[in-house]
Amino acid sequence: MSIAGRVEPMDDGITLSDQDFDAIAQFAHKHFGLAMSPSKKPLVSSRLSRKLRKQNIRAFGDYLKQLNGPNAESERSELLSLLTTNVTQFFREPHHFETLRNDVLPPLIARAKKGGRVRIWSAGCSIGQEPYTIAAVLHSMLPDSEKYDIKILGTDIDPVVIKTAEEAQYPIENFEGVPKEYKFQLEAGSKPDSARVPKNLRSKVTFGTLNLIQPFPFKGKFDAIFCRNVAIYFDNPTQQKVWHAFQKSLTSGGYLFIGHSERMSGPAAQYMKTVGITTYVNTPG
Ligand SMILES: C[S@@+](CC[C@H](N)C(=O)[O-])C[C@H]1O[C@@H](n2cnc3c(N)ncnc32)[C@H](O)[C@@H]1O
Repeated sequence: MSIAGRVEPMDDGITLSDQDFDAIAQFAHKHFGLAMSPSKKPLVSSRLSRKLRKQNIRAFGDYLKQLNGPNAESERSELLSLLTTNVTQFFREPHHFETLRNDVLPPLIARAKKGGRVRIWSAGCSIGQEPYTIAAVLHSMLPDSEKYDIKILGTDIDPVVIKTAEEAQYPIENFEGVPKEYKFQLEAGSKPDSARVPKNLRSKVTFGTLNLIQPFPFKGKFDAIFCRNVAIYFDNPTQQKVWHAFQKSLTSGGYLFIGHSERMSGPAAQYMKTVGITTYVNTPG
């Protein structure tokens, strides 16, 4: 059912008009590439109401001003967190890590052993469990990987999740999904019931903030890119731009892994050959 024309009451009396929703939707599209249909209005309304109540903001227009005010950066990243999810886990969509182990890493490890450079990127990595999974697979195949020029990069638009990723400390139960053959020695965490990814895996991964809808700042190319469950938030033209930018950032023969409900489309599709479920190889010809 369409909810256009309705004013959604927030649970503390603040109302989100259609105009307010449109303003947020436009802002989120311009700054984060997010596609927000009117069906998202109740969700936006309920999530924002809690935030506004906490900050004692009574009018929605005042909140919009804050998004362009002196604390714009942290306000914007908080808004993005409200509108998207940071859900992730170790070995999520495990078939991708089988491909990593069986098809992607063997030639890359051989190249590294001859002095070559290997780069893998986890784009939209949330709190870091995806790049640490890549590091765990690499470590299981090459325990002395620190001797070689192999690096894993994890990026996300949200500086809060990147801070957690760098700390590498998670609730103990988060590690339960790590398959036996990849189980790594955990370090004690500083918080109750938590543990930390060990240093030998942490040292393989570097993190940074990066907005995927802006031009990428990299000079070199990547041998594999994981961008899973991120583009799902983007509208189709934005998805196509991002796929194209990944294709240009991959080596010839480089792999792209995307999320289970995402599909390759647009100009990149002619070069990105499907080689498995949501798995593509760059074949620029
Ligand atoms: C659901 S998590 C996916 C985490 C991981 N890739 C996985 O599949 O487990 C989506 C992440 O995408 C990030 N994100 C959303 N829009 C983004 C953008 N424009 N640029 C970079 N990251 C973005 C969010 O901050 C969030 O951490």
